[in-house]
Amino acid sequence: MAEIKRVGVLGCGLMGSGIAQVAAAAGYETIVREVSDEVVQRGIGGIGKQLGKAVEKGKMAAEDRDAIVGRLKGTTNLEDLRDCDIIIEAVVEDLAVKNEMWKTLDAVCGPDTIFASNTSSLTIADMAAATRRPERMVGLHFFNPVPVMKLVEVVKTIATDPAVFDTAFAFAKSLGKEPIVCKDNSGFVVNLLLVPYMMDSIRALEQGVATIEDIDKGMQLGTGYPMGPFVLSDFVGLDTLDKIGDIMFKEYKEKRYASPPLLKRMVSLGYFGRKSGKGFYDYSGEKPVAMKLV
Ligand code: 3HC
Repeated sequence: MAEIKRVGVLGCGLMGSGIAQVAAAAGYETIVREVSDEVVQRGIGGIGKQLGKAVEKGKMAAEDRDAIVGRLKGTTNLEDLRDCDIIIEAVVEDLAVKNEMWKTLDAVCGPDTIFASNTSSLTIADMAAATRRPERMVGLHFFNPVPVMKLVEVVKTIATDPAVFDTAFAFAKSLGKEPIVCKDNSGFVVNLLLVPYMMDSIRALEQGVATIEDIDKGMQLGTGYPMGPFVLSDFVGLDTLDKIGDIMFKEYKEKRYASPPLLKRMVSLGYFGRKSGKGFYDYSGEKPVAMKLV
């Protein structure tokens, strides 16, 4: 099996920074690419803060934190990822944006570099088709918060070389994750089932079935989910959820994937969830307070 030593990560937002953190923590030299120095610094600074909390709690030695941070580098130049053995993409859920990066990387990377996408809802084949290496493209789908959630969906397309898939699967395990094998269908396993649930929760709210708090409480206490659907939607990001809904609806033409009107209006108004301070809850005070939306 091919050995992975250097890991590239595209994007240093919520998911990319988590992926970079777990890769560096597993001992890999990790280079993260973002669009500007400012975003690179913010992303890597955020990882340092996360690790600092673990040190404060006595869960990590300060030297280990320093070693992890020492293995992390940032760049704004895609060409700096040319020597990576695997590159994991975690940028915005937009096929054109992703494929432009893959095309550039396809030209600058050696022929053995594995390309992996953390896409939530696009298919891996639609990215593989933009490169001259479709057999070296897989999905590696992580879950938020990446350092905490154990699952990685490892996705093979009909063109993926089985040896490349095995390397990607072993790589996911080496990060301390529990990988599962998935076919290249939009949403893989988790989002295929989770997205209709989140969309149905919003439809239940629109129909006046119950309040935001009571729907959340119902699912949390009635089924043991760690978060109710609205807390979870705010956590994932409503702009992201809306994009995922659009992509999955286009793929399956089934209403259960479609973004409900309320979600569309919230996104238009910049209510993106926790990251923007407002979503189904308002996060400006000491405790989140449910918004008046219907
Ligand atoms: N980053 C890193 N670590 C975090 C974190 C974060 N954002 N949030 C919490 N943690 C850590 C804490 O530091 C703590 O660590 P410790 O046990 O070592 O002290 C541990 O996680 C537990 O945190 P808390 O005690 O503060 O809180 P909870 O016990 O409530 O757990 C949670 C927080 C893990 C986020 C839990 O609420 C949960 O599992 N929620 C569901 C998350 C989920 O469903 N994620 C999937 C979203 S879908 C997705 O990502 C797919 C995409 O394609 C849409």
